Amino acid sequence: MKISIIGIGRVGSSTAFAIVNKALVEELVLIDMNKNLAEGEALDLLHASSFHKRTVIRAGDYEDITGSNIIIITAGAAQKPGETRLDLVLKNAKIIQEISQNIKKYAPNSIVINITNPVDVMSYVAWKTTGFESNRVIGTGTILDTARLRALIGYNCGISPMSIHAYIIGEHGDSELAVWSSAMIGGVPITNFCEDCPFEQKCNLQLEEIFEEVKNSAYKIIEKKGATNYGIASATAALAEAIIKNEGRVFTPSVLVDNVYIGYPAIINKDGIERIVNISLNEEENEKFEVSKNIIKEYIEKINI
Ligand code: LAC
Repeated sequence: MKISIIGIGRVGSSTAFAIVNKALVEELVLIDMNKNLAEGEALDLLHASSFHKRTVIRAGDYEDITGSNIIIITAGAAQKPGETRLDLVLKNAKIIQEISQNIKKYAPNSIVINITNPVDVMSYVAWKTTGFESNRVIGTGTILDTARLRALIGYNCGISPMSIHAYIIGEHGDSELAVWSSAMIGGVPITNFCEDCPFEQKCNLQLEEIFEEVKNSAYKIIEKKGATNYGIASATAALAEAIIKNEGRVFTPSVLVDNVYIGYPAIINKDGIERIVNISLNEEENEKFEVSKNIIKEYIEKINI
């Protein structure tokens, strides 16, 4: 198994580290415009890999991605404080097009995972430019937002995030939404869960406050440390693992829905997206999802691809 990562900044190097720690592959290739940086990270990670699995980790050029099962794209301009993910559109579309042309040339059978923001629009650009079937071009979408939601609810209720089934869908950005109508904790609808709360000091799970916190997480982290990296790295490594181990796990990646890439539940296996899971939405959720889809659509039109 071989993974190549294109863009070895904070997100790329953290993703590489998460992949090494999961002992997922025999070969990991790191590509960056700054070759020195890629070489330094490769050496450091090679040393780390001796605690996990024999792995060839090296810096490379585009021709070195040949034979990769998965290519992860993180290259692009990063979100600055106060800047929305959609502000990055035009800057990053050019970068993703160039990378995608090289993926098409050197790794035509690979599965592409795009992280670069705005992730929904850039995943669409990667899909169009590579010409790959849509199951083989996956954006990280709202996988991290869903994880943030589960982490915060879990923290609030003293429950493992793994026992919380609640999804964030839509744009990975300001128009995303939580699907409360089907959210469950241990099989109990989330809106009823507080009735049986054993704690004397009930927190009265404030779902909308939690959602706002999830939505603004990246802004808050960027304000404090300049970038987000560990959350997205773990999300991406989990997605890559689901592909490599043919897990059939449900995530909320950015996938093709009505000719737009958007965060939506989908089953991930060795072929990438096995299929989309048609989650039922109530009227309000459906409206919000449509608004979110139209926002992404507008930006796709701005790029004129
Ligand atoms: C975040 C970046 C990945 O939400 O957009 O942390």
